[in-house]
Amino acid sequence: CKPLHTVCKPLYTVCKDLYTAATLEVKDGNSTCIKAELSAVFSISYNASSGRTAVVSLPDGASVDPGSSSCGSEGSAPWLVAVFGSGHALGLSFSSNGSVYSVTNLTLQYNLSDAAVFPEANSSDVVTVVSASVGISAPVNSTYRCLSSAMFRLDTANLTFSDMRLQAYMSGDDLSPNESVCLADQTTTPAPPRPTTAPGPVPTPAGPPERGMYNVTQNNTVCLLAHMGLQLNLTYSDAQNKTIQDVVNVNPDLTSSSGSCDANTATLVLTQEQSTTLSFTFTLNSTSNKYHLSGVSLVVNWPNVPANTSAVNSSLNYLRSSLGHSYMCNSEQTLVVLPTFSINTFKLQVQPFGVTTTQFSSAEECQVDQDQMLIPIVVGAALSGLVLIVLVAYLIGRKRSHAGYQTI
Ligand SMILES: *[C@@H]1O[C@H](CO)[C@@H](O)[C@H](O)[C@H]1NC(C)=O
Ligand SMILES: *[C@@H]1O[C@H](CO)[C@@H](O)[C@H](O)[C@H]1NC(C)=O
Ligand SMILES: *[C@@H]1O[C@H](CO)[C@@H](O)[C@H](O)[C@H]1NC(C)=O
Ligand SMILES: *[C@@H]1O[C@H](CO)[C@@H](O)[C@H](O)[C@H]1NC(C)=O
Ligand SMILES: *[C@@H]1O[C@H](CO)[C@@H](O)[C@H](O)[C@H]1NC(C)=O
Ligand SMILES: *[C@@H]1O[C@H](CO)[C@@H](O)[C@H](O)[C@H]1NC(C)=O
Ligand SMILES: *[C@@H]1O[C@H](CO)[C@@H](O)[C@H](O)[C@H]1NC(C)=O
Ligand SMILES: *[C@@H]1O[C@H](CO)[C@@H](O)[C@H](O)[C@H]1NC(C)=O
Ligand SMILES: *[C@@H]1O[C@H](CO)[C@@H](O)[C@H](O)[C@H]1NC(C)=O
Ligand SMILES: *[C@@H]1O[C@H](CO)[C@@H](O)[C@H](O)[C@H]1NC(C)=O
Ligand SMILES: *[C@@H]1O[C@H](CO)[C@@H](O)[C@H](O)[C@H]1NC(C)=O
Ligand SMILES: *[C@@H]1O[C@H](CO)[C@@H](O)[C@H](O)[C@H]1NC(C)=O
Repeated sequence: CKPLHTVCKPLYTVCKDLYTAATLEVKDGNSTCIKAELSAVFSISYNASSGRTAVVSLPDGASVDPGSSSCGSEGSAPWLVAVFGSGHALGLSFSSNGSVYSVTNLTLQYNLSDAAVFPEANSSDVVTVVSASVGISAPVNSTYRCLSSAMFRLDTANLTFSDMRLQAYMSGDDLSPNESVCLADQTTTPAPPRPTTAPGPVPTPAGPPERGMYNVTQNNTVCLLAHMGLQLNLTYSDAQNKTIQDVVNVNPDLTSSSGSCDANTATLVLTQEQSTTLSFTFTLNSTSNKYHLSGVSLVVNWPNVPANTSAVNSSLNYLRSSLGHSYMCNSEQTLVVLPTFSINTFKLQVQPFGVTTTQFSSAEECQVDQDQMLIPIVVGAALSGLVLIVLVAYLIGRKRSHAGYQTI
């Protein structure tokens, strides 16, 4: 699966390296001032013939750019810049008030000419996007730790960090053993540091999943609605190289939803505790006013599964419907994402675009539902046909026998 920045070719081999951590270090002479270990995944929207979302990850081989990185001086802030691939870069800028340091801004630069990552891009620009409010901070002389994934929105890109440990304004060369643990880690794993594989959901092959009511809110307005029961079907190799198949129900009570809505792209991100992150990307074709589910990505931290195992496919074409309508499928439906990963949906209704209230617009129903509705009609029609045939046969028979009497 390497080099990862060229969109990990055999994605269907549940590409566990996609999210491997990078270690980045900024030095001033011999002393280290910033050190970061982190996994980062970018989801970048760019213009192809219509809206399209590419998924790029910060690869293992990302390296610190000594030219732009600095430990800071009078008037300039410490800045960590990691470069990867063909002109892509991630920057973290820091500040401190003496007792607390924080990340002041995140910058992502990406090169749309890199056709391996951005196929069919209709621009060759190098784009730079910034997020100014980041909320990563820790006391000086401590390490900021956040193993949970945290998503940041940078204009056209969503950046998700996980397994993060970082420190700036360092006094030694190694990360301080004093850890300042982020809120997300605290709420789910109360005290002890998490082992590399989190306690994940126990496979639950029994029974259909409970239906969850999810939505995405942007600017205090609901912009995406999704009510559905979800069952994940994942095949992977464990540490002993044994092929294992897990069928896991998504538990709505333990799952939170987030995401984003743009003119042509809407994303729903479901996070079940620390262990499962599932995102659905919907694309609207503004020429035809039709939308569909165009991408699914899954990252799991389950016991026995290699840490941060992921599965991504951004060229799907499911759940097709029209702008102004919701898509509904009460019957069980299987969305094959990769040969090793599929999702079974139950009692599904989604509306990723044109949401004006907190209610679904009128639904366009899937073929299976329509076929099921057809069965009683077909049976009914067949029965009426049968009755008709019997009746006709009877009448003909009666006429015949009548005629027979006359000849006698
Ligand atoms: C860095 O370390 C090397 C060897 O440990 C030493 O020779 C050199 O003088 C040091 N440089 C600075 C700027 O401290
Ligand atoms: C796509 O192109 C339109 C029109 O040029 C522009 O307004 C929009 O910001 C572009 N979207 C992205 C993601 O670059
Ligand atoms: C790129 O595509 C968008 C959306 O289709 C379009 O609005 C824009 O004009 C295109 N830009 C260029 C430079 O072709
Ligand atoms: C982000 O931080 C870098 C480094 O401190 C700085 O050069 C840049 O101007 C900042 N960008 C914004 C938008 O604040
Ligand atoms: C952007 O990518 C193209 C093609 O891979 C490459 O030729 C160009 O040098 C890259 N630009 C930068 C700024 O690295
Ligand atoms: C630094 O900032 C933190 C949080 O913003 C605050 O609690 C602390 O009092 C500040 N310290 C100084 C010395 O200004
Ligand atoms: C951080 O540690 C260094 C070296 O141990 C010490 O000089 C400095 O005062 C400490 N700073 C804070 C804010 O504790
Ligand atoms: C949402 O809010 C942001 C800033 O708060 C604003 O720039 C943007 O236009 C708003 N979008 C909509 C669709 O209202
Ligand atoms: C899970 O996927 C495998 C392989 O694609 C398939 O054989 C199996 O029937 C699926 N199980 C469920 C419950 O969907
Ligand atoms: C696991 O299986 C693959 C392909 O069958 C093989 O290339 C690899 O060496 C195996 N690894 C271990 C640890 O057995
Ligand atoms: C959008 O719809 C139009 C009209 O149906 C079609 O010609 C075009 O190929 C579609 N675009 C994409 C990217 O599917
Ligand atoms: C992604 O999904 C599409 C459509 O189902 C399929 O043709 C393609 O093979 C999938 N990609 C991979 C890497 O399996």
